[in-house]
Amino acid sequence: MLTGRVPSPPSSDRVRPDVAVVGAGPIGLAIAWRCAGRGLRVEVHDPAPGSGASAVAAGMLSPVAEAYFGERQLTELLLASAARWPAFAAELTETTGAEIGYRGEGTLMVGLTGDDLAEARRLWAYQQGLGLPVTPLRPSELRDREPALAPRVRGGALATTDHQVDPRLLVPALRTAAQRAGAVLVPQPVRHLSEVDARVTVVAAGCGAAALTGLPVRPVKGQILRLRAPDGVAPGFRHVIRGYADGESVYLVPRADGEVVLGATVEERSDTTVTAGAVQRLLRAGIDLLPELAEYDLVEAVAGLRPGTPDNAPILGPLPGRPDVLAATGHHRHGIVLTPITADLITDLVLGGLPDPLLTPFRADRFGAAAVAALGGPEPTMEGDRWS
Ligand code: GLY
Repeated sequence: MLTGRVPSPPSSDRVRPDVAVVGAGPIGLAIAWRCAGRGLRVEVHDPAPGSGASAVAAGMLSPVAEAYFGERQLTELLLASAARWPAFAAELTETTGAEIGYRGEGTLMVGLTGDDLAEARRLWAYQQGLGLPVTPLRPSELRDREPALAPRVRGGALATTDHQVDPRLLVPALRTAAQRAGAVLVPQPVRHLSEVDARVTVVAAGCGAAALTGLPVRPVKGQILRLRAPDGVAPGFRHVIRGYADGESVYLVPRADGEVVLGATVEERSDTTVTAGAVQRLLRAGIDLLPELAEYDLVEAVAGLRPGTPDNAPILGPLPGRPDVLAATGHHRHGIVLTPITADLITDLVLGGLPDPLLTPFRADRFGAAAVAALGGPEPTMEGDRWS
């Protein structure tokens, strides 16, 4: 949450920026990078860049494995953003020289018990029905791909197009890219939108967007663990693994440096305490799927707050009655994968372009007049294809 800023007095030599981005997580920084790259004067306001949800995120780029019943439009956005990731990652690394841990081994989805596999197969059938590349594997094929999986894992499927990136490398790289493109970081919190002075303000403040805009963004707690393979060797598995284990849904993300991210709980809570029960459940499920994890060091147990919305989809575009304020928030479980497309489409809006049709389901006014009430603005109107 961004609180407590005392506005600085206007300086006579300050040039009013074209864009003020509130929030320097991956979404805000990528928007700043893109906007600055298009020749706009950009300020990014955040006292602690990268300290929100991305600081704990695993970094899965999983539009296929995360395609869920009833979320078809969100799946379309996820797929469109994932398709931009290879070029986005390459450009970021070329611009900054920074490795961001982008890996393309694909994701294995597995079920530990017969019941787990039955549950997983229902989801795979739904995903295949959407035409997504989910390939069921025979147990022998599964073990050929990942010999480290427990012998009792009953079955699995491969999503070859679901990849990963390391958010703890991504955020500093985006910050460097944005600053090299000319964006200015203002290390102060923003308590109210009136404290920023720019032609367009982009609210990319995660859960903090609720207090700033009145939009219905709620914290969704996730507890997550980091383990490390002994002796600094790489983990004994290379795919991202998503599994059901005795009813527990977990994911395991291996990094080249020996780290494994094991997550995550999904809790309707706003605290960031780590509980013994959650750690126990995550470790049990993880070790049941990959027994070698029992020998790993447990190096971190943390909790973060995902920005959720009433339909768990992001809010992208102008606030009702405020064409000068664009929301880029509510990314919930998908902030990392949605970073490239959010940056591109919000930058197009900042530049005055027509909204991409992909944005239509994610408009800020789909939740009614809450934001208008909070901001004291007029009723939203539609003029042609433009939002105002
Ligand atoms: N995207 C994974 C999570 O939110 O836990």
